[in-house]
Amino acid sequence: MPVTGIQAGRSTGALSNDGDIRRGDDMDAKIRQKTLRMLSNGVYVLTARSADRYGAATVSWVSQASFKPPLIMAAVRRDSNVFQCLAESHFAVLHIVGDRQQEVARQFFYPTRACPGTINGEPFAAGRTAAPVLANLPAHIECGVNKIVDSDGDHAIVILQVLEAECREQVRPLTIAETPWVYGG
Ligand SMILES: Cc1cc2nc3c(=O)[nH]c(=O)nc-3n(C[C@H](O)[C@H](O)[C@H](O)COP(=O)(O)O)c2cc1C
Repeated sequence: MPVTGIQAGRSTGALSNDGDIRRGDDMDAKIRQKTLRMLSNGVYVLTARSADRYGAATVSWVSQASFKPPLIMAAVRRDSNVFQCLAESHFAVLHIVGDRQQEVARQFFYPTRACPGTINGEPFAAGRTAAPVLANLPAHIECGVNKIVDSDGDHAIVILQVLEAECREQVRPLTIAETPWVYGG
């Protein structure tokens, strides 16, 4: 599809010296943001528990990363509760959000509040690992934490190995593109 003059743009001017290119110093920040926000991302809820501390967050920077063994990678803010819990316990659960469940995803934009039986108002139960399983989401993947790459950037890359998967209902998964939300740039 052709883009109009307003939509189109390049984030740099004429390519200057090697150092500028490697660092991206001369990029136009607005065009970079607009372009990176066109990456396709889903909407998920990631949960973890370490002893009596719980973490649960809506995450969108997620992808399958290997067939054999089945691996998933997720980029997780290192100052979040969910990151602290999964780093300590080595377990996490990734939940699929259905396309009619924006309100459930919204509950997990905010810092985790766990009460007996609920996290951020959503009911949960124990799964096969230490990490809690949210009852109202249609499918989930229980994972072990294989590796955490925490050397670059403001998010850590968490490599998760799939230990168990459950699909209670086949739904159309929610994607960022269908919501008013942005996370990227
Ligand atoms: C649309 C959207 C997508 C998000 N995606 C991510 C993500 O991929 N990784 C991440 O660490 N945080 C992401 N967040 C931020 C977390 O949802 C938020 O920081 C959450 O409050 C963390 O809770 P916690 O500190 O209790 O674990 C996203 C937020 C929004 C609104």
